[in-house]
Amino acid sequence: MRKKIVAANWKMNLTLSEGSFLVNEILAAAPAVTASRQVVIATPFVHLTQTAAQLEGIGHIHVGAQNCSSEKAGAYTGEVSAAMLNDAGVQYVIIGHSERRGYFNEDSAMLAKKANQGLENGLQVIFCCGEPLEIRDAGTQNDYVGQQIKEGIFHLTAEQLKNVVIAYEPIWAIGTGRTATSAQAQEIHAYIRNVIAAQYGNDAAAGISILYGGSCNPTNAAELFACPDVDGGLIGGASLKADQFLAIISAMINS
Ligand code: 13P
Repeated sequence: MRKKIVAANWKMNLTLSEGSFLVNEILAAAPAVTASRQVVIATPFVHLTQTAAQLEGIGHIHVGAQNCSSEKAGAYTGEVSAAMLNDAGVQYVIIGHSERRGYFNEDSAMLAKKANQGLENGLQVIFCCGEPLEIRDAGTQNDYVGQQIKEGIFHLTAEQLKNVVIAYEPIWAIGTGRTATSAQAQEIHAYIRNVIAAQYGNDAAAGISILYGGSCNPTNAAELFACPDVDGGLIGGASLKADQFLAIISAMINS
């Protein structure tokens, strides 16, 4: 059975003390998670060691980074390598978020290298894809997202793919309060699974977790997570409030 995951993406929010407080609030009330029902908290880089220390020994609530360098090490001022993340106690890394693609010009070639770095350094990669509004309006979202996946991760071996989670995040739904309907999410998640099946076979496709992201909140999470091909969520705004994030975790556990 494939894993269900709810992952918090704090983006560029929260000071160290605010982050510590939020993690403690989550830990105080988090329902029991298991190997097949996991939680990830992806913090800014400066929080990672603090969050890792808070989560040490707490099974199946993991620390994630929001990015890593495409390079192994060296003279790359301001960058953070995947090896450093692993050493800091990080288990997951988000690669290819639309904000990285859009604001920081990260293209598929760079994202493929970042995925390699994450995997070579023992991290689970959460690979993001998703279309802008004009692509959705034109009805060509499947081709667009399929291309992102091919360019970003099809160079990986089937063995490496076991450590990849896909997050589908339509750009028009991120931070806008406009969520994809469960029918829209299910349709494209099923398509993504078919894309994986065509390249890696049915077992790999059945085993890969595909998360939905984009204005996911306590009100819509249960319906989204009930879709057969939606295996949890990548949560932005609602992950910054303990009560909301906890409600979304509960929706995932009960799905
Ligand atoms: P929101 O949940 O704030 O829409 O953000 C989604 C997202 O980008 C998570 O990575």
